[in-house]
Amino acid sequence: MRHLIPATIGLFCLLTTFISLPSQAHTTCDETCWANVIPPTNKAKLINWLNNKGYKANFLPEPARHQSTGPHGGVVKTYYNPVLVNDLAARRKRFSKGAAMVKELFLGGNTVAGYAVMVKTDRSPTVKAGDWLFYEAFDTNGQGAFYGKGIQLCAGCHSAGKDYLLSTFRP
Ligand code: HEC
Repeated sequence: MRHLIPATIGLFCLLTTFISLPSQAHTTCDETCWANVIPPTNKAKLINWLNNKGYKANFLPEPARHQSTGPHGGVVKTYYNPVLVNDLAARRKRFSKGAAMVKELFLGGNTVAGYAVMVKTDRSPTVKAGDWLFYEAFDTNGQGAFYGKGIQLCAGCHSAGKDYLLSTFRP
């Protein structure tokens, strides 16, 4: 019990440092914390992480599933990571490196049948499609997935949003 208290305080400090300084997350977040907050950018690792529901513990979900207003295959539910939540709370127009969204695609069924993901891998002085890694597959094994930085198909439509965020959900 005695050693639990310092451990809890340590974890709390780690999280507050991380959440208040997302742009320095690389230096304040250890590997496990990083893995649970920022989706992997390697394609195979990302697919694995999605299927293992790596986003569930720390990401903030939309209140309910809803019909997509974009070309995202029917019913969807989007999750925001803590970096993005923090940026939105601070009303930043340009999100920090590490901001990310995961979108569950239900494709008309009752279970998750695919995913769309965006991860901000760089932060340029102005908003830029190339700062975002885009991923989308209409199956869970990533067959024929769209995957890459600044993919025109995705970015062209998402450029209408707030630093490429189109969902209207605000924490
Ligand atoms: C024709 C427009 C359009 C295109 C093309 C498009 N999207 Fe979207 N996307 C939307 C809209 C509208 C939303 C928000 C409403 C919703 O939930 O569907 C959205 C939401 C998302 C979200 C949740 C975060 C956010 O920005 O709201 C992700 C992640 C996403 N799209 C990824 C992608 C990826 C990856 C591609 C390319 C393979 C892509 N989108 C192509 C219109 C588009």
